[in-house]
Parts: sequence; C-alpha cells; structure tokens
Amino acid sequence: MLDLAQRVVLCTLLVSVYASCPPRCECSEAAHTVKCVSKDLRSVPTGIPGYTRNLFITGNQISRIGPESFKGLDNVTNLSLSNNRISEVESHTFAGLRSLRSLDLSNNQLAVIHPEAFTVLNQSLRELNLSRALYNHSSVMDLATSLRWSSLGTLQGLDLSDNSLIYFPSHIFSHLSNLRRLQLSNNSLVAINNSTFSGLEHLEELDLTLNALKTLPEEGLRELDSLPRAVLLLGDNPFTCICGIEPFALWLNRSQGRIRDAEGLVCAFPASMRNTSMLVVGTLTLGCQQRDAGGDLTLQTSYVFLGIVLGFIGLIFLFVLYLNRKGIKKRIYDMRDACREVWEGYHYRFEIDSDPRLSQVSTSVDA
Ligand SMILES: *[C@@H]1O[C@H](CO)[C@@H](O)[C@H](O)[C@H]1NC(C)=O
Ligand SMILES: *[C@@H]1O[C@H](CO)[C@@H](O)[C@H](O)[C@H]1NC(C)=O
Ligand SMILES: *[C@@H]1O[C@H](CO)[C@@H](O)[C@H](O)[C@H]1NC(C)=O
Ligand SMILES: *[C@@H]1O[C@H](CO)[C@@H](O)[C@H](O)[C@H]1NC(C)=O
Ligand SMILES: *[C@@H]1O[C@H](CO)[C@@H](O)[C@H](O)[C@H]1NC(C)=O
Ligand SMILES: *[C@@H]1O[C@H](CO)[C@@H](O)[C@H](O)[C@H]1NC(C)=O
Ligand SMILES: *[C@@H]1O[C@H](CO)[C@@H](O)[C@H](O)[C@H]1NC(C)=O
Ligand SMILES: *[C@@H]1O[C@H](CO)[C@@H](O)[C@H](O)[C@H]1NC(C)=O
Ligand SMILES: *[C@@H]1O[C@H](CO)[C@@H](O)[C@H](O)[C@H]1NC(C)=O
Ligand SMILES: *[C@@H]1O[C@H](CO)[C@@H](O)[C@H](O)[C@H]1NC(C)=O
Repeated sequence: MLDLAQRVVLCTLLVSVYASCPPRCECSEAAHTVKCVSKDLRSVPTGIPGYTRNLFITGNQISRIGPESFKGLDNVTNLSLSNNRISEVESHTFAGLRSLRSLDLSNNQLAVIHPEAFTVLNQSLRELNLSRALYNHSSVMDLATSLRWSSLGTLQGLDLSDNSLIYFPSHIFSHLSNLRRLQLSNNSLVAINNSTFSGLEHLEELDLTLNALKTLPEEGLRELDSLPRAVLLLGDNPFTCICGIEPFALWLNRSQGRIRDAEGLVCAFPASMRNTSMLVVGTLTLGCQQRDAGGDLTLQTSYVFLGIVLGFIGLIFLFVLYLNRKGIKKRIYDMRDACREVWEGYHYRFEIDSDPRLSQVSTSVDA
C-alpha cells in the first residue's frame, strides 16, 4: 500500500507530466516528440513543451496560423501541419522557430500566403513541403512573392507536387540558390519558359512527371540545359508525336544520361503513335511531308478562291456595262461624231496644204 506522501508525490508527478503536454496531444520527452493527430483541433495548442524537436499537428481543422501560434519552441526542427485546412499563412509565422529545418504544409488550402510567410530568422529551413497545399492556381503569384522574400537561400528541397499549377511566373525560383530537389509532379504545366528555372544552379533533381507537356520547344530545352547537374523525370506527360516534335526527341536521345525515365517515355497522341518510344521518334518522318503537301493544297485553294473573286468582279463590271448600254452607245456616237469633225477639219487643211497654187499664195504673202 502506498502511503499518503507517496500518493501525493505520484499525483504531483502525474500532474506535472500532464501539465507539460497540451490536451489531446501525446508527448514523449525521450523522443523529443509531440503529436496532436486527428483531434479536431481548430488552432495550434498552447503549452507545447520546450524540449520538442518533432512536432506533428496533423489531420485537424486548423485554418489560420500566425506568429503567435509558435512561441518558445526554439528546439523544433521538424514541424508538420499537413492535412489541415490552413488557408492563410501570415508573414513571420515560423520566424521564432530558430532551429526549424523541415516544414510540412502538405494537404492544406493555402489561398493567401503573405510575402514573408516562410521566413525563419536563423535561415535554417532545408525542406519545404507544399504538396497539394495550394487552394488553386491563383495562389501561385502569392507563392512566387513569398519564395522571393522569405530568405530561403538555404532551402534544399521544395515539394510543389499535386497542385494544379498551369505555369510559373518567370524567375519564381531564382532566390532558392541552394535548392537541390524540386518536385513538380502531378500539376498541369503546359510549357517551360525562358526563365522558369533561372537561378537553380545547384539543382540535382527535377520531377516533371504527370504534367500536361505535349512537347518541349527549343525554349524549354534550352531552359532544361541550363540545369546541367539536374537529373530529370518526364514520364506520364501527354507527348504528342506530330511534326515539330523532332528537336525534342533528338534532345531526349542526346540527354538520355540525365533523364532517369528516358527509356519509358512514350507518345500519347496521335492514336497511331501511342506507346511509341520517344527515343525513336526522331528517326521517324511523322508524315511531315504530307503536312507540306497539305500546305501546297491550301496555297492552291487560295489561288482558286482568288480566281473566283476576280471572275465575279469581272461579271459585275460587264453587268454594269450592260445596264448603261444606251448611255454608252450615245457617248460612242458622240465620240465618233467628234472624231469625224476633227478628221474632216484635218482633211480640209491637208487639201489646202497640198494645193500648189494656194501654197504659193501663202508663201508670197509671207514674203
Ligand atoms: C532546447 O533544448 C535544450 C537542450 O535539450 C534545452 O537546454 C533548452 O532549454 C531547450 N529550449 C527550450 C526553449 O526549452
Ligand atoms: C525531420 O526532418 C528531416 C529532414 O530535414 C528528416 O530527415 C527526418 O526524418 C525528420 N524526422 C522526423 C522525426 O520526422
Ligand atoms: C541556427 O540553426 C542551426 C541549425 O541550422 C542550429 O544548429 C543553431 O543552433 C541555430 N542558432 C540559433 C541561435 O538558434
Ligand atoms: C510531402 O508530403 C506528401 C504528402 O504528405 C508526401 O507524400 C511527400 O513524400 C512529401 N514530400 C517530401 C519531399 O517529403
Ligand atoms: C481560385 O479560387 C478563387 C476563390 O474561389 C477564385 O476567385 C479564382 O478564380 C480561382 N482561380 C482559379 C485559377 O481557378
Ligand atoms: C494528383 O493531384 C490530385 C489533386 O490535385 C489528386 O487528386 C490526384 O490523386 C493526384 N494524382 C496522383 C497520381 O497522385
Ligand atoms: C510560356 O511559353 C509558352 C510557349 O512556349 C507561352 O504560350 C506562354 O504564354 C509562356 N508563359 C509565360 C508565363 O511566359
Ligand atoms: C527567350 O530567350 C531568348 C534569348 O535567350 C529570346 O530570344 C526569346 O525571345 C525568349 N523567348 C521568350 C518567349 O521570351
Ligand atoms: C500502351 O501501353 C500500356 C502499358 O504499357 C498498355 O496498357 C496499353 O494497352 C498500350 N496501348 C496501346 C495502344 O498499345
Ligand atoms: C540516339 O543516339 C545514339 C548515340 O548515342 C545514336 O546511335 C542513335 O542513332 C540515336 N537515335 C536516334 C533515334 O536519333
């Protein structure tokens, strides 16, 4: 049997243990870990112990976070807020987490991201997971601004997969000068532009699988060539193997060494080319000559059309002439009469000139 003193000690111990762990959370001092998983929390709980290094507040109903959410958590290196309903992240929300290395915001609904949302004062952040985190494509402008202003020069991994992104504003990643891994899989990217990846000199891995790339024109190829150290993944894009894709196919063959899934890349369209390896497409003719013949055909068609138009104008002209036939007849008669008068006048003068007597008279008069 425990005596009273022992009971009191035990109770105090229990109370202190519970006091140091927020309600609905599990705390393990030995593992430096606090988990508040799927507990219907609507905000970040207070009273998280200072020893915490790994903090999981996942699968709850949290919708807004700001600087006041994370106070006195100097030791947190891994923070996961995935599977919540976070729609707004204020500037400096994570600034006080001076040891933060890995931030997971995946599976949220970020619609408003303030310019310094991801700033961590110590510039310690290495991994940022925004997979399926953006509400829709419109958030990409906010994202670009916060990637610019959050001092993420030490970031090494950025996951933007599963986000329905259609394109990136130019230079969006240009302040992430130490980024090694960029996940863009399962978006709706249709093109890679001139300055999409500018500034990513240290990139080692770029995942573009499951996007909407039909081809990559010279501009996009040049952009990918500006990442010489990066291994690329390009699978599951709707590559369309028609005339014009040859430069891309030749580039693929040339760059096989750094395209990890090169062997598996196949045409998706047209139906006749489906499943054809992209690596052999460069040697096929793809009916480009036919397309040229088609060009000739359109040229011929336009000539025919021009002929028809000219013929039509001619017909109208003739019709107008026909309608005015009386007036024209009259004018022709008038003209003929006028000509006759002129002719007769001339004829008369000619006769006078050719009469020797008359010319002698005139010369003698002149003398
Ligand atoms: C962080 O951890 C260190 C050592 O584990 C400890 O001394 C310090 O008090 C902790 N910080 C906080 C705010 O509790
Ligand atoms: C913490 O994050 C790092 C990446 O920065 C990762 O390697 C590690 O496994 C994470 N630890 C936990 C407990 O999640
Ligand atoms: C800054 O972050 C590093 C880890 O990147 C950590 O070792 C260091 O203690 C932090 N400095 C301060 C002042 O918290
Ligand atoms: C980011 O989070 C998603 C979903 O939680 C996970 O599947 C993915 O592996 C994470 N990305 C990285 C780079 O850890
Ligand atoms: C994103 O959602 C907002 C709010 O519902 C809406 O106004 C905007 O048009 C959406 N943008 C896109 C690209 O769907
Ligand atoms: C792609 O992302 C959407 C959400 O944007 C998700 O519903 C779908 O399951 C993802 N597909 C794959 C293959 O991961
Ligand atoms: C990117 O380039 C494509 C053509 O390659 C163009 O249609 C698109 O408008 C460009 N996007 C941006 C954001 O510049
Ligand atoms: C891309 O950059 C090249 C020069 O590097 C330039 O000639 C071209 O016009 C640019 N294209 C676009 C769409 O901005
Ligand atoms: C293409 O390949 C996939 C799997 O490799 C297969 O399921 C599909 O039937 C193939 N389609 C055609 C048209 O050959
Ligand atoms: C691909 O490149 C190899 C040399 O690396 C060459 O022998 C082959 O003919 C090329 N294939 C095509 C389709 O261009």
